[in-house]
Amino acid sequence: MAAVSVFPSQRELGAALARLVTEAAAEAVASSGRFTLGLSGGSLVALLARELPPALSAAPGADPSRWLVAFCDERLVPPEHPESTGGAYRSQVFSQLPSPGPQVLSVSPELGPAAAARDYEEQLRKAFPGPAVPQFDLLLLGLGPDGHTCSLFPGHALLQEQHSLVGFLEDSPKPPPRRVTMTLPLLNSARRVLLVAAGASKAPVLKGEILGVLG
Ligand code: 6PG
Repeated sequence: MAAVSVFPSQRELGAALARLVTEAAAEAVASSGRFTLGLSGGSLVALLARELPPALSAAPGADPSRWLVAFCDERLVPPEHPESTGGAYRSQVFSQLPSPGPQVLSVSPELGPAAAARDYEEQLRKAFPGPAVPQFDLLLLGLGPDGHTCSLFPGHALLQEQHSLVGFLEDSPKPPPRRVTMTLPLLNSARRVLLVAAGASKAPVLKGEILGVLG
């Protein structure tokens, strides 16, 4: 069941998002001993960097050392590159969390697009023994003005992928061009997905495509 929440500012959106993440974490850690979380790049990094640490200190049961974190997509640049999503989360978010911090599954850009996608899929399957399609507790997805999420762009062939959990592209309309991304079968298997959209540039696609679909 889809629900839509609207916030007057990024500050309120960020605080609500961080609260939702820590509540979901406490629930999952209590029920299954771990919390599996998928993160996206872009403005989400700064939002979580500002709001997750205070939300965690208010939610002792959330315990980040019991988290398994993966990236919903990644740009194929070195981790120290400013465009690296993994690099951004390490320096801005994970560095603020109490040690030992979450277990993080990282993409290996040096392998090249196809091999990096295969390697990341293997890592995911190893981290989720059992069901054919891993089931994350929570995925945080961003939204582009064109309606893309993760690195799944409108009209792109990757939207048709039905078997691989992780796909790659070398023609991303949003730079940098080479990326790997979770595919729809993996996204749709998650227990909960949050689509986080901030800023006026997202309003048209939200009102049109997204809310139109959600009804
Ligand atoms: C990426 C993202 C991408 C992002 C949207 C929204 O790595 O580029 O995963 O899907 O979430 O483009 O980005 P903003 O929140 O910065 O507008």
